[in-house]
Amino acid sequence: MPKIAYVNGRYLPHGQAMVHVEDRGYQFADGVYEVCEVARGYLIDMTRHLNRLDRSLRELQIAWPMRRSALEVVLREVVRRNGVRNGLVYLQVTRGVARRDHVFPASATRPAMVVTAKRIDPETVARRAADGIKIITVPENRWERVDIKSVGLLANVLAKQQAKEAGAQEAWFVDPDRTVKEGGSTNAWIVDQEGKLVTRPADFGILRGITRTTLLDVAAKLGLTVEERPFSVEEAKRAREVFITSATTIVMPVVAIDGEPVANGHPGSTSLSLREAFFDIAEKTKA
Ligand code: PDD
Repeated sequence: MPKIAYVNGRYLPHGQAMVHVEDRGYQFADGVYEVCEVARGYLIDMTRHLNRLDRSLRELQIAWPMRRSALEVVLREVVRRNGVRNGLVYLQVTRGVARRDHVFPASATRPAMVVTAKRIDPETVARRAADGIKIITVPENRWERVDIKSVGLLANVLAKQQAKEAGAQEAWFVDPDRTVKEGGSTNAWIVDQEGKLVTRPADFGILRGITRTTLLDVAAKLGLTVEERPFSVEEAKRAREVFITSATTIVMPVVAIDGEPVANGHPGSTSLSLREAFFDIAEKTKA
């Protein structure tokens, strides 16, 4: 099955799926994106992802590229055309194509939109969750508006590459006072010594992850106590469990931080039960 991408109104094989050299996403990272999980043939939490897209677009004064209902059709169509039952769908909207100039182009400039989808083997992800992953910490060096899901991800790219070179799978951005912000592409959580779930508030300084939001619902259903407060790297190293969340990982246990094992060095039971309960509680839209 050839890979198909949606590019500005057309469904094209990847070999022909091109954007313009003067697309502002390409030249200035002047655009936003969303990644939505696809599980067992359903788009997970599409409503929340599109609500966040709406917020990101408004914060940057970029217009919707099409009506929301039409965009939902495109997302499902790209998933279907690529035969994705498990994986993800990626959506990017940029301020459009215009002669290079930093300031916003003429208001008639149409936003540009690209949608792709890819399969991910659920068995591989399940194995990774059963083993747990390793993370490193890096100094926070991103701009302040990381609450906007912008395609400007250079600091995240460098941090995740550094993690890979250290034999780890994620990097946590850490403030000078040692509090944990979030991962390069995930939110950060711990289970403290009393069994409470702790995650940093999402008012500023991190992306308000959709998986994070839905996991707060899951925790409530499971009767777990959640504290939204900052925590430090040292507290995480002493925690009973550590895990990360995102549309691509759902709940992924962390078994080592900067080379030091977390608890007994194996995924904890709370992380694994949250992971199990997630699909049942999340919103599911048939592709
Ligand atoms: N990343 N924090 C950052 C910096 C992220 O890039 C992401 C998502 C998250 C988690 O958000 P959500 O639960 O809505 O996926 C937190 C996506 C998956 C990516 O860039 O591929």
